[in-house]
Amino acid sequence: MNSQALMDTAKALAAGGKGILAMDESNPTCNSRFRKLGIPETVEARRAYRELLLTTPCLGDCISGVILFDETIRQTRKDGTPLGEVVIDAAMIPGIKVDLGAKDLAGYPGEKITEGLDGLRGRLAEYFLLGARFAKWRAVIKIGESIPSRGCIEANAQALARYAALCQEAGLVPIVEPEVLMDGDHTMGRCGEVTEVALRTVFAELSAQRVMLEGMVLKPNMVIAGLACSAQNPVEEVASATMQCLRRTVPAAVPVIAFLSGGQLASDASAHLNAMNEGYKSQLPWALSFSFARALQQSALEIWRGYDTQVFLAQQALHHRAACNQAARRGAYTPEMEMMGVRTGKEEDQ
Ligand code: G3H
Repeated sequence: MNSQALMDTAKALAAGGKGILAMDESNPTCNSRFRKLGIPETVEARRAYRELLLTTPCLGDCISGVILFDETIRQTRKDGTPLGEVVIDAAMIPGIKVDLGAKDLAGYPGEKITEGLDGLRGRLAEYFLLGARFAKWRAVIKIGESIPSRGCIEANAQALARYAALCQEAGLVPIVEPEVLMDGDHTMGRCGEVTEVALRTVFAELSAQRVMLEGMVLKPNMVIAGLACSAQNPVEEVASATMQCLRRTVPAAVPVIAFLSGGQLASDASAHLNAMNEGYKSQLPWALSFSFARALQQSALEIWRGYDTQVFLAQQALHHRAACNQAARRGAYTPEMEMMGVRTGKEEDQ
């Protein structure tokens, strides 16, 4: 294992105040987002959309790394250039989703286990040759009447840890993503309790599997009320609850925490990230960054809708969201940025 290379990659993913663009939706997820907007659910439409995202001018000023789906890393730009090379040419690091999705957990109705460990060592070696330098595995934990169960939390934590160890062996930085879902009407307090247990369990398993914490990225949910909860908390409360939870559970050796957006409005995700950086950054051992999918892509997708004539505007929308979140990383995001578009000054390394 080349520890230095892993640490360098993890650091590079947080450098320059930049964040990660997650564009690794599986085909069914991508298709269902296309369907809602009347975009053809075809290989070519998915390729064209991913090309649009990756060729956004100056994206590399705000985005350090890009998580691709298996189909995408094997596709090319219209001129034949592999999309992985397009990422590198734009000064970003290619990453790859390597889990095979969340499936029903036997014996635990309503809960999921993420699959994909079988054959993972071979797949990781191939992705490394295709240019990937980091990977992602997402576990999902649902809050409900009497869930999550201990069994679900432990099974997912162990899978995450085994994946992370295999990634490091293969020279890929693992993004470890235990996502407590926003689906449901639970309160922010309940989300905090569940997230705390989930993270404690994940770090116990990472330690048991000898994962080098300096060479990984944690991708957690923010501590926030469920989407159907009638009591939504102000931005500062979400920031404070999230910080309390992460400070209790995440070792200082982890270099980067890159949040998922989880279904929040894009502007809310930026405001929450901003409040955490503005209020707490100077006291924290880890960089607080973003690894958003919907909160970066949604406006671009809605503008594009499959039309070539919309590519430029869609790319502007993606760049704008990336720049808003880059500003949030330094606590400089304001709601006014939503109206105007922001400049993309290069920021100091962190
Ligand atoms: O695995 C989930 C994605 O990487 C993050 O997606 O920001 O839309 O929650 P999201």
